[in-house]
Amino acid sequence: SNPSLLILPGDGIGPEVMAEVKRVIDWFGDKRGLAFDVSEDLVGGAAYDAHGTPLTDETMAKAQEVDAVLLGAVGGPKYDNLDFSVKPERGLLRLRKEMDLFSNLRPAQCFDALADFSSLKREVVAGLDIVIVRELTSGIYFGEPRGIIKEGNERVGINTQRYTESEIDRVARSAFELARKRGNKVCSMEKANVMESGILWREVVQKVHDEDYPDVELSHMYADAGAMQLCRWPKQFDVIVTDNLFGDLLSDAAAMLTGSLGMLPSASLGAPMANGRPKALYEPVHGSAPDIAGQGKANPIACILSFAMALRYSFDQGDEAKRIETAVEKVLADGLRTADLIGEEGVEPVSTRQMGDAILAALDAS
Ligand code: NAI
Ligand code: MG
Repeated sequence: SNPSLLILPGDGIGPEVMAEVKRVIDWFGDKRGLAFDVSEDLVGGAAYDAHGTPLTDETMAKAQEVDAVLLGAVGGPKYDNLDFSVKPERGLLRLRKEMDLFSNLRPAQCFDALADFSSLKREVVAGLDIVIVRELTSGIYFGEPRGIIKEGNERVGINTQRYTESEIDRVARSAFELARKRGNKVCSMEKANVMESGILWREVVQKVHDEDYPDVELSHMYADAGAMQLCRWPKQFDVIVTDNLFGDLLSDAAAMLTGSLGMLPSASLGAPMANGRPKALYEPVHGSAPDIAGQGKANPIACILSFAMALRYSFDQGDEAKRIETAVEKVLADGLRTADLIGEEGVEPVSTRQMGDAILAALDAS
């Protein structure tokens, strides 16, 4: 049977960009013999409007069963005053938590045609293609004890950085697996010079490497030096693996090396399922963009590239993923720009649909 995909368009520009992704998915079925069993459901505010909850139990169960989930975006001003327990974001958080998506992949990929859009020099970013793997379910954002306590006559804010060997082990494996599908190089970042969790992190990553991934080139770097190297010469990296806190900062910084929010895909992976594929949720980094929703202005590329990540990391179709990326590169090189990709030159923007049309045409020509 065909691999299965659950599509959750969500709110705001989510359904608009997902409409273009659905056309790309259909294209692969028609033209490349790569058909998916696609089902579609509601999430976020859309699910709240229909069912009074941002994610129904049925949708949650479906997400656990399929080979990959593709999500648009959730949220919007209409839902800002809802009770916390039914806010749109809770739907997404429930998916991440119940699927136990501990490995968050954030690529920083710079299309040549957009290299001048970066705040760094063209030669530093042109052709950049790296992935930051951020541990997503543990570390200082979750460690106990935490809280604000009274100590003498002042208050103390406390968070605890805490990593078990098995938590480090599984995210390290996920990074090595990823590297094997890319440039076969992993750089692990921590601060083993000043943190116990960093010492353990380095030790466990090295052990996983030596035992099971000796073919992958592994290096270690202190995270502060890593931040500096990311800005100085990011092309030295392929896959970077790091903890939740450092990954939060490093992935935001790295992503912005390459330009617009409308270009950035992501993946969140969990443990392997019975069929060997990891539990997986793919989504653009951007939100529901209420300021432009319903106007046909949204850039669909981040969501389309999220599907390309699904092809590469869930379905072992790296060449087909590359086909999408090459099509994106081509339309950008031809000068097509959605509104978010226009600097000062005064280029006329294209619509979401026109960008989708152009990418399909480039796929046809590939
Ligand atoms: P946002 O990412 O939705 O928008 C930030 C800015 O970038 C806006 O000016 C928007 O127009 C622009 N933008 C974003 N994606 C774009 C695209 N594909 N094409 C063209 N322009 C694009 O972040 P914001 O405004 O902070 O949040 C809006 C809503 O989205 C909120 O309800 C927030 O909670 C939610 N949100 C949801 C996320 C998710 O579903 N994963 C992530 C971030 C925010
Ligand atoms: Mg962040």
